[in-house]
Amino acid sequence: MSPYAHITGWGMAVPERVLTNAELSLMVETSDEWIFSRTGIRERHIADPEQTTASLAVEASLEALRIARLKPADLDLIIVATSSPEHIFPATACLVQDRIGATKAGAFDLLAACSGFIYGLNMATQAISSGSVHTALVIGAETLSRLVDWKDRNTCILFGDGAGAFVLQAAEERAGVLSAVMRSDGSGSDLLTLPGGGSRFPTTIDTVTQGLHYVQMNGREVFRFATRVMSQSTQEAVAKAGLRLEDIQLVIPHQANQRIIETALKNLEIPPERCFINLDRYGNNSTASIPIATCEAFTAGRLKPGDNIVMVGFGAGLTWGAAVVEWSGPFHGVRKLRPARLRLYARIRSFILRLLRRIDAWMWGRNNP
Ligand code: UT7
Repeated sequence: MSPYAHITGWGMAVPERVLTNAELSLMVETSDEWIFSRTGIRERHIADPEQTTASLAVEASLEALRIARLKPADLDLIIVATSSPEHIFPATACLVQDRIGATKAGAFDLLAACSGFIYGLNMATQAISSGSVHTALVIGAETLSRLVDWKDRNTCILFGDGAGAFVLQAAEERAGVLSAVMRSDGSGSDLLTLPGGGSRFPTTIDTVTQGLHYVQMNGREVFRFATRVMSQSTQEAVAKAGLRLEDIQLVIPHQANQRIIETALKNLEIPPERCFINLDRYGNNSTASIPIATCEAFTAGRLKPGDNIVMVGFGAGLTWGAAVVEWSGPFHGVRKLRPARLRLYARIRSFILRLLRRIDAWMWGRNNP
């Protein structure tokens, strides 16, 4: 029997700085009334200059490891799903690996925009069920505030910064991620895009003048697509898990727009009280929205062992997907983690590795003049 991937740790991190709709209305021509009635968003968190996608990811990850009672060295795999990586390369996941000191883990980034966390969850689950990985960390992390044009009211009102992380562990007992579906339709790639800075439009003065380094979106088309695929993929994932919609205790959707979520729930005939929504306080955190909502649902007492949950998302690509999870909670480890101490150990380790690399390069240069 293939092992199941249980979610045994979860953590979130959001910047302290809150940007309200009222503040936004001083920056672009908009209003609290318009934003709230069209999106359900009241405020969002914005990273301080010293915070980055990796630093938020590290915070969320250490919290998830603390709950799972695991050391970073217990991890075999780190996946960071992000739409706002620190660089094109190296992967943000490698920066996280170094900063938490996950000495045995492979690490890579996954780009499926706002569906990235569902994709990452599924990839880690498949690695666990194949037996090649025992313990994985899946992170959704964003600083999209750095990539939106703060003069474009179509986009800047929507997004926020933050990170969420899950620890997945192998277990024989049937629970954890029971099924997942992943879909894509690249014919809609122009509907939500950040065109500049890649190999198609390398950064030049022209690309910057044209604003190609900012998020561009056809909101109406993305809206229509989202309402259609959210209900479809939920139904598919639930059927794949051998369950019916009545068996689902909670839906945790990608938090993009209250009206999109309400339409999807209506199509599925799921009452709103069986859905967790926190986008009024965060806006759209892209890949981080589902894990952050999961952390808050847990804290609010909405997740109990044995509950069946659907996580469902959509985004640029176009991509979409859903996963069915039977909530189980942490295994009964006894290890207490001190995140501050772990961070310090990781910094010392990273410093020593960099120093050794320089000494090695110096000696190699002397021997090979
Ligand atoms: O993770 C995936 C990320 N993307 C999404 O989820 C986006 C999905 N789409 C949406 O959430 C909605 O389409 C928006 C919230 C972006 C826009 O809402 P809408 O009801 O589709 O508005 P619209 O784009 O059809 O625009 C209606 C009007 C337009 O004015 P006119 O042309 O009717 O005169 C816009 O110019 O509202 C105007 N408008 C605004 N007005 C005040 C657009 N943005 C704003 C704004 N404040 N921020």
